[in-house]
Amino acid sequence: MNIHCNVMIIGGEGDLAFRKLYPALYNLDCENLLSESTKIIAFGRGKFSSSEFLEKVYTWIEKSEYTHSIQETTWLRFKERLVPFVGDATNADSYAALKDQLSDQEFVIYLSTPPSIFSPICQALDKAKLVREDTRIVVEKPLGESRSSFDQINNHVRAVFDERQIYRIDHYLGKETVQNLLALRFANVLFEPLWNRNYIDHVQITVAEQVGAGGRWPFYDQAGALRDMVQNHLLQLLCLVSMEPPAKNKPDFVRDEKLKVLRCLKPISAHDVNHVTVRGQYAAGNINQEAVVAYSQEADSATDKSSTESFVAIKAEIENSRWQDVPFYLRTGKRLRERYSEIVIQFKPVVHRLFDASAGRLTDNQLIIRLQPNEGIEMKLVNKVPGLTEQTRLQSVGLDLSFDAVFDEHRSPSAYERLLLDVIRSDQTLFMRSDELRAAWDWVDGIIDGWQSTAQSVSRYSAGSWGPSESVDLLANDRRRWFDYGEQ
Ligand code: BG6
Repeated sequence: MNIHCNVMIIGGEGDLAFRKLYPALYNLDCENLLSESTKIIAFGRGKFSSSEFLEKVYTWIEKSEYTHSIQETTWLRFKERLVPFVGDATNADSYAALKDQLSDQEFVIYLSTPPSIFSPICQALDKAKLVREDTRIVVEKPLGESRSSFDQINNHVRAVFDERQIYRIDHYLGKETVQNLLALRFANVLFEPLWNRNYIDHVQITVAEQVGAGGRWPFYDQAGALRDMVQNHLLQLLCLVSMEPPAKNKPDFVRDEKLKVLRCLKPISAHDVNHVTVRGQYAAGNINQEAVVAYSQEADSATDKSSTESFVAIKAEIENSRWQDVPFYLRTGKRLRERYSEIVIQFKPVVHRLFDASAGRLTDNQLIIRLQPNEGIEMKLVNKVPGLTEQTRLQSVGLDLSFDAVFDEHRSPSAYERLLLDVIRSDQTLFMRSDELRAAWDWVDGIIDGWQSTAQSVSRYSAGSWGPSESVDLLANDRRRWFDYGEQ
């Protein structure tokens, strides 16, 4: 049964709302997952007239890679739900006209605004008496730039909302393949017995992007790849790969296990930071045969004095009995050769090699979890090459479970569809709890302190490459190498 619940997007004329939120809500409507009476209040500053607003919503739904095609009937139904509303979200009086529509109903408030105004918005909502026991609030990253600024933002939201009402989004957790990680690990008998230091050599987590900082340059320059990507997306992936089985598939059981992992991350001290982390910034180069400019020239406010990292690679270690001495190599960067996100679990070699080297060059077993593009799972196994040759020849072959091949006519919902639906259903499993964020910031703060105290340099890499050469060295020092896209 669909829950009757209104959705109010504060920052309803912003980029995120158009690019992600309206298309996601539209798709939920197509799947008949919104209740008949659900209204979507687009709270904005009045940048657009009603017709311009609707046109923009339509255009972005059409552009969304997750929407098949717009059905006229569904669009008309969806359009009726949209209520553009102009006001100052930090002023309680602005909400007066909405009160009748909202105060006696369940509703979700999505703060798609900078965190600097979370506090006055929450106070205004409270003063306008719009916050009920069952009101949910969704907050978007960046949630702070350090542990202490996170605490500040969090305290402001917590002054009005209980933890059970707060949904902190990390959109990576809404991706299909990320949720599939839990099924893969805990619904198959095959992997769990091998999922530890006895059988796994190391894990690689790569989130590579082709886009640059672009229009977000001023914001990005304050953040850098470590805060923008590692503190949240990559650490959440690391948690799901490495956590212990939760006792139940329920929000706090899952979040408790993730928290334990974060608390077991070996702190990276100033003494180690140069050995286990690499920072890079893109220089000019070519991507898909198109010339792109350097980070330092990408925006009007850009300057070559910036030492912000657009690439980071880290050797992370989890100090517990399951993962002792198993490195987790993390890397993420902008303006890299390909856009892809993958987790590679590299297994150890068989203990006794029955076949000698002349049988073929063997890659030890690998499990590749592909988040994007071509989401799916691939298992690398060693096979005999068919034939009558006297000597057995072996070859590494991929057992490919790409979602497109396995699930007929499936449509992978966007991360925001999953997450918005979960908020409507009051399910916090895929949202971050404040103690998780605090633990993640503690670890990241340690790295930032190390970079500052050692004045670690930022290496340049050409746009369209796989990052600075020091990133290759990071693994080569351990006699390992990165598995770049399509090269395994
Ligand atoms: C966001 C970061 O959280 O994730 C962006 O702020 C990044 O810098 C984006 O581009 C990547 O998301 P996706 O889903 O495109 O991999």
